[in-house]
Amino acid sequence: MKITEAEFIISAVRPNQYPEDALPEFALAGRSNVGKSSLINRMIQRKNLARTSSQPGKTQQLNYYRVNQKLYFVDFPGYGYAKVSKVQREQFGQMIETFLGDREPLKMVLLIIDIRHAPSKDDCLMYKWLRHYNIPRTIVTTKADKIPKSQWQKQIKLIKETLEADPSDRVVLFSSEIGLGRDELWEVIMSKVED
Ligand code: GTP
Ligand code: MG
Repeated sequence: MKITEAEFIISAVRPNQYPEDALPEFALAGRSNVGKSSLINRMIQRKNLARTSSQPGKTQQLNYYRVNQKLYFVDFPGYGYAKVSKVQREQFGQMIETFLGDREPLKMVLLIIDIRHAPSKDDCLMYKWLRHYNIPRTIVTTKADKIPKSQWQKQIKLIKETLEADPSDRVVLFSSEIGLGRDELWEVIMSKVED
């Protein structure tokens, strides 16, 4: 995928701030620090358009990035960050559920999981929401560069089993660090754009 334009559009805190041009949207969900922003940067070949940090819990809103005037990446806040208050946690849950429940341009959610670890309870809950709302989904196992290749398949199996994923769910092996999986993920995304 050749990137001709990639632009940060808005940090939306309310639905009336979401873009209204109806371009297809691809949201990224996952734990704090799992590598959502890094994945966006890798996909669009920019070092730092999506803010990344080694401090978890930085992304608080829905951050919209427009690519090639064709689609949006929507960077969700990372969940599971211990220092977030109960109220913030509930607000987060409501925002995401509203978004998943009635966001017309949403084409797919990329559920980002660290390949080194079994999915958390929050990952499993997110996965259940996606199924409940019947949202097309792709599981992206990232940070693959951090473990030997020989362990990849075993970890993917563990991740699918823990999520109780449908056998037909697609899993894309990814590394933002080395660019592994980028072409495959663009194929998955573009197949939904052209749908
Ligand atoms: P929040 O916005 O807090 O939810 O985090 P995030 O999911 O956006 O994570 P972010 O992209 O900021 O990455 C967190 C840390 O993991 C950073 O230090 C990244 O450099 C690192 N990281 C992300 N992806 C990879 C990867 O594929 N490989 C390696 N080795 N490190 C990665
Ligand atoms: Mg982030």
